[in-house]
Amino acid sequence: MSETRNPLDLAVERAKIARRVAVITGAGISHESGIPTFRGPDGLWKNFRPEELASPEAFRRDPGLVWEWYDWRRGICAKAEPNPAHGVVAEMERTYPEFLLITQNVDGLHARAGNRKMVEIHGNIWQARCTVCGHRFENHQVPLETIPLHCEKCDGLARPHIVWFGESYDEEQLSRALTFLESVDLVFTIGTSGMVSMPVFLAERAREEGAFLVDVNPSSSSLSSLAHLFLQGKAGEELPRFWQRTREPNGRKQD
Ligand code: OAD
Repeated sequence: MSETRNPLDLAVERAKIARRVAVITGAGISHESGIPTFRGPDGLWKNFRPEELASPEAFRRDPGLVWEWYDWRRGICAKAEPNPAHGVVAEMERTYPEFLLITQNVDGLHARAGNRKMVEIHGNIWQARCTVCGHRFENHQVPLETIPLHCEKCDGLARPHIVWFGESYDEEQLSRALTFLESVDLVFTIGTSGMVSMPVFLAERAREEGAFLVDVNPSSSSLSSLAHLFLQGKAGEELPRFWQRTREPNGRKQD
């Protein structure tokens, strides 16, 4: 029987019985909320050079310029609302006994949709970190009253709490993600291009460990090739449709 099932039916079946589920998200999941992605025709990296705005060197050279760019992006994030795909990811957390969201997004939309079991591997645009005393703090001012931002404790120069180009991931967060993926049943990769190596590495690890992979994206990538099921389309449409199917009782009526 199972060999005749198509990948969609198989994925729905897996999603119905899974206990331990991980979701890996990238910029694409927030696109329908009005937040630009990084790559692609209207991507941020088309108009801005990452090394001039998202690197430790850029910040040393001109902290004001870097903060202005983040201030502008914070303005976009503040206006955005979670979309139906964020809603499904939050519902997955409520549904599965063991769940972890691994997001590259810094916009905070997953938390606003209700996710709590989450690692933000690239940081968070609403947090800053002091370059002098290391104190990490929340700041939700939009627009910022003073640029560059200073530490609320020691008044030292603060930087966005973001993992920039050339910087390492937080070891603790990464190891939490890797440990969770060791015995995961099902992994969704959503709206990530596969141009950054970490999500691909994580998805590969999960697949090696026996997980079933579902990729959701309008464009194919190394992640869609790796996945058992590729849901090609917008996350805000594909994910709710898929989730709806997993919520339906099994098709066949009992005799
Ligand atoms: P990218 O901008 O590289 O890719 C966005 C992906 O989202 C692409 O694969 C698009 O096809 C897909 N996409 C677009 N609209 C979508 C939609 N409605 N639904 C689903 N998918 C959609 O973003 P990431 O892969 O997240 O890092 O890039 C990772 C990192 O690169 C970012 O976190 C950022 C950047 O450099 C830092 O700033 C540290």
